[in-house]
Amino acid sequence: MKTFDELLNKKDESGNFILSELSYANYALEPLISERTLNFHYGKHLQAYISKVNELKKDFPADVTIEDLIKASGDNKALFNNASQVYNHYFYFEQFDLKGEHKPTGRIAKLIDERFGNFDAFKKELVDAGLKVFGSGWVYLSESSDGKLIMESFSGAGTPLDKKPLLTLDVWEHAYYLDTQNDRKKYIENFLEAVDWNIIEKRLNG
Ligand SMILES: [Fe+2]
Repeated sequence: MKTFDELLNKKDESGNFILSELSYANYALEPLISERTLNFHYGKHLQAYISKVNELKKDFPADVTIEDLIKASGDNKALFNNASQVYNHYFYFEQFDLKGEHKPTGRIAKLIDERFGNFDAFKKELVDAGLKVFGSGWVYLSESSDGKLIMESFSGAGTPLDKKPLLTLDVWEHAYYLDTQNDRKKYIENFLEAVDWNIIEKRLNG
């Protein structure tokens, strides 16, 4: 099993980033997230962000990582957006397992109860946050440096590298339009059923 860093920063011999293989089959999230969506979302959209990062990273050393590029992008908005999208997509796809644990246990359960009251209240807040993003964007759940959970939204791209990212919800239309069309709420509900909380707990303790 590859680590997240290995998946995120896979490169060819010439130092260009290349698309890592998804750690499950493209049909594995059916019927919640369709194979067709995975084919386009992982195979085409993520690939396009990676190709763009390769074009934009020419002035950086060969061993540069996606996290380095997000942090060093400065005024280069295109580099920030594309590097952030690469990170966000790998982070998004590596949190699902239909055979996994579909409610929080362990430390993450305790933190969810502390911050949101209970898991149902957390789900409601995530759905509301996802619906509130105008246009394309992301909702992240992260742990702050003082050990508290934070839910925050980003318009377009954005990655909370100043915190420990735990879970991310992609609300770009390409994440759901083939499956639920204009029904973003139904997509978020499906998303919540596909998340494996064992993975989120590992991220918290990692
Ligand atoms: Fe996406």
